[in-house]
Amino acid sequence: MKIATKIEDIQEQITLLKQSSSSIGFVPTMGYLHEGHLTLVSEARKNNEVVVMSIFVNPLQFGPNEDFDRYPRDYERDIELARNNGVDILFLPETGEMYSRDLSTRMSVIERVNVLCGRKREGHFDGVVTVLTKLFHLIQPTRAYFGLKDAQQIAVVEGLVKDYFFPVEIIRVPTVREKDGLAKSSRNVYLSEKERVEAPALHQSLLKAKNSIQAGLRDPQQIISMVSETINNETSGIVDYVEIYSFPGLKELDTLDGEIIIALAVQFEKARLIDNQIITVNAKENKNV
Ligand code: PAJ
Repeated sequence: MKIATKIEDIQEQITLLKQSSSSIGFVPTMGYLHEGHLTLVSEARKNNEVVVMSIFVNPLQFGPNEDFDRYPRDYERDIELARNNGVDILFLPETGEMYSRDLSTRMSVIERVNVLCGRKREGHFDGVVTVLTKLFHLIQPTRAYFGLKDAQQIAVVEGLVKDYFFPVEIIRVPTVREKDGLAKSSRNVYLSEKERVEAPALHQSLLKAKNSIQAGLRDPQQIISMVSETINNETSGIVDYVEIYSFPGLKELDTLDGEIIIALAVQFEKARLIDNQIITVNAKENKNV
């Protein structure tokens, strides 16, 4: 595995790959790798000749009161995990390398952003699309792999790629979970023992909602109440939001129909966790239960 830390190093590597017309599968991350990230790598391995991963904790996507400084980092461990799991080139830039001078332009997300995490984390997705624009230009991937755990991120990135004709295919990868259903996340290490026991209730509440929808329930408000109630009853976390939209458009719905997302965020003492379910609903089966 090659490691590039400088812009010119990665550009040189990519130029060489492009000369041999190799397909490039790209997995952008912020590190502290877990099985979720490594599943993106194994998906990328399946369909591309070369797999490039980036690890960069992007300051631009963290708000002033968020966890940028204490975001978990362990680069030595990450390098070993990347090496042993099929990454060919690891791009590991320092902050100054990616943002070496004041920006003279700014990326701004205007659709799919005033809901879910976008509403709660002002400027977060502007930071995500800014760093991904830089990374896509540097890596020039054939395909880029994103986890459905961050479903709004996928919706926003699909919008970015479409708007600006990035010649990259965005691949959606299902959420990887712990045995008890908790979505794998770098932030899970911040749960207390008690919170860790409670946390699978997030996924459980979404499965319960999914079952009700499959049984015919179509009223978004009823489903939202059901999910919030389960989390309030079964965890000490505070519900930040439970929302339902079309997916990937993220438009409000009066009744459930087509591809929809139920997504939630719950604030525990030191970790804010997110999860979601994407469900295909057929309105004709409405039984009004
Ligand atoms: P990060 O949180 O490190 O996540 C990197 C990628 O791993 C994202 O596509 C995310 O959705 C995916 N991922 C995380 N947990 C997962 C899980 N349990 N199952 C499946 N995929 C999972 O997302 C970011 O970094 C950043 O915003 C980034 C895109 C790198 C831009 O800075």
